[in-house]
Amino acid sequence: MRGRMNDVKSYVPPFALDAPMEGGAIGEVVESRADGLKAGDKVLHMAGWRDEAVLPASAVTVLPNLGVDPQAFLGNLGLTGGTAYFGLLDVAQAKEGDIVFVSAAGGAVGSAVVQIAKAKRMTVIGSARGAEKCDFVRSLGADAAIDYTAGPIAKSLAAAAPTGIDVYFDNVGGDHLDAALAVARRDARFAICGMIDAYNGGQPSALRYIMRVISARIRIQGFIFTDFMARMPEFYAEMAPWIASGQVKSRDTIVEGLERMPEAFLGLFEGANTGKMLVKL
Ligand SMILES: NC(=O)c1ccc[n+]([C@@H]2O[C@H](COP(=O)([O-])OP(=O)(O)OC[C@H]3O[C@@H](n4cnc5c(N)ncnc54)[C@H](OP(=O)(O)O)[C@@H]3O)[C@@H](O)[C@H]2O)c1
Repeated sequence: MRGRMNDVKSYVPPFALDAPMEGGAIGEVVESRADGLKAGDKVLHMAGWRDEAVLPASAVTVLPNLGVDPQAFLGNLGLTGGTAYFGLLDVAQAKEGDIVFVSAAGGAVGSAVVQIAKAKRMTVIGSARGAEKCDFVRSLGADAAIDYTAGPIAKSLAAAAPTGIDVYFDNVGGDHLDAALAVARRDARFAICGMIDAYNGGQPSALRYIMRVISARIRIQGFIFTDFMARMPEFYAEMAPWIASGQVKSRDTIVEGLERMPEAFLGLFEGANTGKMLVKL
């Protein structure tokens, strides 16, 4: 959503002025004349930031019956979990035994990455802001959690990963990416999911360790979740049982009321959320 506030060419068009904002949401069908869609169905759609919408049937997806809370389809069983799953396992080709570093590990995507990596028997180091969020990251099973406000991230990561890292799942960019470059092992894979550190500042950050890409043969690849939409059944088949058995847990931050959408959105840039930031109407 932040990217769509810049009037630039990207993988989705920018938001139009004076039009309702869009965002992933779960709603309930009130009225429908479409086949396969009836009042009371819970659906996933992109017409968030409003309490009612009139949509073509093609713009909504009836939630599959996977025996989990519908809210999960906005978090670990939705875009968030899918981003973590395909970014980690497909883009970064992470496998059992790998040492994985993930930034913003107490957030929505990051907390899913930690848990998927643990379910696949990897060693996980997560970074987050403050002691409380680091405790949350450890509670998800992370082997180490770095409070990046307590000192330079490069120093803390080198201490937490004395033998280096095989995979970096980037949600932050900037000094976190640089720290990962500094400790990357030979043939490390970096999945670039987000660079929230740069979304508002606009200042390019210096990467002191970028040349390690050559000596360590690091592969850096960005990705967009929608690239993997056709493979959602594969994701559901693995993630739904993890959620149902409690192996993958969710802790959502819920803000109540449509009028508090902007506050919830801006809170993402200050770490106001633990797990997924959701607004309930
Ligand atoms: N490629 C894709 O398809 C895709 C899909 C979804 C999301 N994303 C990206 O993935 C990242 C995570 O998204 P999300 O929805 O899961 O959000 P999130 O991690 O739940 O929330 C953002 C978190 O980023 C951290 N943060 C904010 N500013 C920071 C800064 N300057 N330096 C370090 N950390 C900072 C905060 O955690 P702390 O309190 O720990 O600082 C905040 O809680 C974002 O960059 C997002 O744009 C990409």
